[in-house]
Amino acid sequence: MGNKKLELSFKKILEGNKGWVDFVKEDKTGRFQQLAAGQHPEIFWIGCADSRVPANEITGTKPGEVFVHRNIANMCVHSDMNMLSVLDYAVNVLHVKHIVVAGHYGCGGVAASLSREQFGIIDNWLCHIKDVYRIHAEEIDAIKDPTEKTNKLVELNVKEQVFNLCTTSIVQNAWKNGYDLAVHGTVIRIDTGELLDLDTTFTSNETLGKVFAFK
Ligand code: CO
Repeated sequence: MGNKKLELSFKKILEGNKGWVDFVKEDKTGRFQQLAAGQHPEIFWIGCADSRVPANEITGTKPGEVFVHRNIANMCVHSDMNMLSVLDYAVNVLHVKHIVVAGHYGCGGVAASLSREQFGIIDNWLCHIKDVYRIHAEEIDAIKDPTEKTNKLVELNVKEQVFNLCTTSIVQNAWKNGYDLAVHGTVIRIDTGELLDLDTTFTSNETLGKVFAFK
């Protein structure tokens, strides 16, 4: 590779891995041998792809404890085969107990959705966030500060994505079949590291409304 800087940033992760290999080697609990045989996480995390919000570090969990799906602005789009496939595996194969949608304040995707700028192909993805804005336009427009505006939409977007998850056939059928599953909405504060519960937890389809709850 000609570009020295480029080479160095890749080397850094290979070097970094040596520390991890040593850590795994020194572990006496046998958990890495167990993990090599399979995973049994109880948590399924849907977070933003942003590099500042890693699921394990933020939640004090270890490899094997959290099944993770991340995309721009932690969206749960009903026709997204990627999200649906991960969700189906999490619920029907791994039998997770909790699904956590984790947004974060200062989300670039959410901020971008509040402008009329074009950013390229992502504009079509951002439309899903703009749809959330449309539902809550009055509340968001009442806020003048751009940062606060974004952060309000971050919270409302998490709640909307929690609702979207609950109405998927996968979660609906899990509840219909009497399977214990809770869907939570949270927001991360990057500057303090806090994971804030938005108190928008669903554990059944009873409160989802007529057309959204499968019989
Ligand atoms: Co983000």
